[in-house]
Amino acid sequence: MERVSKTYEIVRLPGLFGRRGTEQILDVVTNFTLAVAPGEFVSVIGPSGCGKTTVLFLLAGLRDPTGGTIDVDGRPPREAVRAGVSSVIFQQPVLFEWLTTEGNVLLPLRLRDPRWWFWRGRRRGYLPTVGQLLRTVELEAFAHYYPDKLSGGMQQRVAIARALTLDPRVLLMDEPFGALDEITRDRMNLELLRLYEDRGLTIVFVTHSIEEAVFLADRVVVMSRGVSPRTRSSIVTEVRVDLPRPRQLALKEDPAFFQKVREGRAALREAQMTS
Ligand SMILES: Nc1ncnc2c1ncn2[C@@H]1O[C@H](COP(=O)(O)OP(=O)(O)OP(=O)(O)O)[C@@H](O)[C@H]1O
Ligand SMILES: [Mg+2]
Repeated sequence: MERVSKTYEIVRLPGLFGRRGTEQILDVVTNFTLAVAPGEFVSVIGPSGCGKTTVLFLLAGLRDPTGGTIDVDGRPPREAVRAGVSSVIFQQPVLFEWLTTEGNVLLPLRLRDPRWWFWRGRRRGYLPTVGQLLRTVELEAFAHYYPDKLSGGMQQRVAIARALTLDPRVLLMDEPFGALDEITRDRMNLELLRLYEDRGLTIVFVTHSIEEAVFLADRVVVMSRGVSPRTRSSIVTEVRVDLPRPRQLALKEDPAFFQKVREGRAALREAQMTS
């Protein structure tokens, strides 16, 4: 992302006697420059409403920037998603309730080819791939369950498997474990790290939690609501997390980890002051 900005027009009241209505322009993302290297894990933190989801949606091509340029593996964001290069995981699992676990994970393959009359035949060919994905997220035994028969953590695992269906190289994640209890969240963090290391993924991960951001990432980007007077951008600072990998939960007891969390917290305090 190179000098990216995004403004929203939030109010438009009809003007009197045909005059132009009132508009309020909200600058959400300003001068946002971020280069994520292949294989890098970047977390984004910042106060509520500072534009984290907006940044992720811009990267996923779900919103268009007002200014600046965005490039995902040499392509515009929307094309990268369409080509299966990048994939998004939202805060809620967003599963289709009339499809089983297997059906949800197959969906990206089904949508990629609109010839529905070939689907039955193609489906059979894809089942081994889906079986392997479900093994990855430890849900093979639940392939024929419908979403309402799964726990929140299991549903989010289905969403992760579905995001991996087209074998993306880039994962864009928006507080994916925000709704989970702490123990489940720890487990999901470890599973995510295992996937990240096994598949050589590149990840941009939005979270509210400084601990989670530091535990997972190589770099934590701290955003503020509004523009930081020091950097003249939405990014207040970046904290480099040079802790060794593979990471285990024991790392959370390490003084080096505490130090990084402390740096993150100080940056977040600065971010809060600019808003
Ligand atoms: N479609 C939209 N139209 C107008 N304003 C919007 C729209 N989407 C977001 N905003 C505004 O943009 C700002 C940033 O929203 P965003 O959802 O990116 O924040 P966030 O950092 O993800 O917050 P949270 O941590 O609470 O999820 C907010 O002030 C929000 O009201
Ligand atoms: Mg958000």
